[in-house]
Amino acid sequence: LSEAGILAIETYFPRQCVRQADLEKFDGVSSGKYTIGLGQDEMAFVDDREDVISICRTAVRRLVARQGVDLSSIGRLEVGTETIIDKSKSVKTALMDLLCQAGNTDVEGVDSTNACYGGTAAVFNTLSWMESPWWDGRYGLVVCGDIAVYERGPARPTGGTGAVAILFGINPQPPIRFEINARATHMEHTYDFFKPRLGCEYPTVNGAETLSCYLRALDRCYQRLKKRTGSSGSVSDLADYAVFHAPFNKMVKKSFARIRYNDYLADSTSVVDPEGKLSKFRDVPLADSYTNKELEKAFVTESSALYKKMVEPGDWLAKRIGNAYTASLWSSLAAILEEKGDELIGKRILMFSYGSGMASSMFIIRVASPIGKLSSSLLIRERLDARRVVDPEHFTEVLERKEKKYCAFGVEPAQELAELWSETTCLERIDDIGRRFYTST
Ligand code: ACO
Repeated sequence: LSEAGILAIETYFPRQCVRQADLEKFDGVSSGKYTIGLGQDEMAFVDDREDVISICRTAVRRLVARQGVDLSSIGRLEVGTETIIDKSKSVKTALMDLLCQAGNTDVEGVDSTNACYGGTAAVFNTLSWMESPWWDGRYGLVVCGDIAVYERGPARPTGGTGAVAILFGINPQPPIRFEINARATHMEHTYDFFKPRLGCEYPTVNGAETLSCYLRALDRCYQRLKKRTGSSGSVSDLADYAVFHAPFNKMVKKSFARIRYNDYLADSTSVVDPEGKLSKFRDVPLADSYTNKELEKAFVTESSALYKKMVEPGDWLAKRIGNAYTASLWSSLAAILEEKGDELIGKRILMFSYGSGMASSMFIIRVASPIGKLSSSLLIRERLDARRVVDPEHFTEVLERKEKKYCAFGVEPAQELAELWSETTCLERIDDIGRRFYTST
């Protein structure tokens, strides 16, 4: 196991959300398309009082307040995000305000960006720093945060918002560690999802292409990870739980099914198939296998019992906030920690990180010692249930208003402060040359 690991974790999501069932009616699509078809319940979104800096800052402030972190003892702070609001200045430097107040300016690290993968890159950088001769004994802090919004159309219900702050250390011994030599990566040059329109918040997305790129990356990472770890068994031999980057829940189900398809191809006795119904998929050409609906459905069915055991404990947060891009994988880790608490001691969690364009890694985390205090203080479910559900008309108005004001200077936000959670950092104004100023509730 790595010496460095996770000491504490904190999540943040906005106080307002829209129900996917309401959005189905509003968009005039068939009932069940977003809730059953995509597997999503609610979607978190921000109005004009919150931006990527404010949500990351709120996550850090929550970590400090709730987990008792001393900001003067942070030696490295990295941010993973793809929500760009400045082409030069990193979000990390905006978070330096908090550290400077604690008298700490000696802090390495800036931002990592590549779609939903930036948070994982920041985690890997931080681990490398801690296990290098440059480490000075202090903590590492990784913050991942994104605001995912799409223009009207089929991708819009796959938006979301969230941030997560993760504290890394070696002393005291961290309860959540990384298995050495259990990491595999796959990267390629693709145009499945990208953001070439610098004056527009929305990505350019080829939905179908993103799905097959994701599954192709998953295949490669899983096969490489098995080789690297010398594992010849199935996914349940490799780990006890699995957490995936979650664009929408159906994709997580399809990903786990794809892993079982890999298991089947490696050893047909490793899956549940008493009547041999899966044998016809053995010779499907690889390229066709990514779009073969019959194959996909068969393996979603085959994997459903194991999914319940291995994936469901961590899949519920993303169903209720949507795709939080860089924060998606890491807030799902927080969800499984809250759900299972100390039952996780000694257990291995398989993690899959995917960022379009594309960068992906699979690795294994192990809970090595009690996490009871960490998990019981997260209160994720409690906060999810306390949110304000708004109607799709309001959600759409907010997005339209933000479209018009995107990149505008000399503006003051219109959203009432009372609509935010208490103790939230929020935007006060953007001045005439684009500098952002924040306050808190
Ligand atoms: N009841 C139940 N299920 C339904 C209904 C209904 N009334 N209507 C449709 N469905 C099902 C479909 O059968 C389909 O299920 P399947 O995938 O199991 O076959 C599912 O709902 C989605 O319907 P589609 O018609 O395939 O959806 P569409 O093509 O309109 O959009 C997409 C889906 C492409 C994912 C779109 O939302 C998108 O582009 N999202 C953004 C891209 C994305 O998130 N990619 C993921 C990886 S990259 C990243 O993280 C950004």
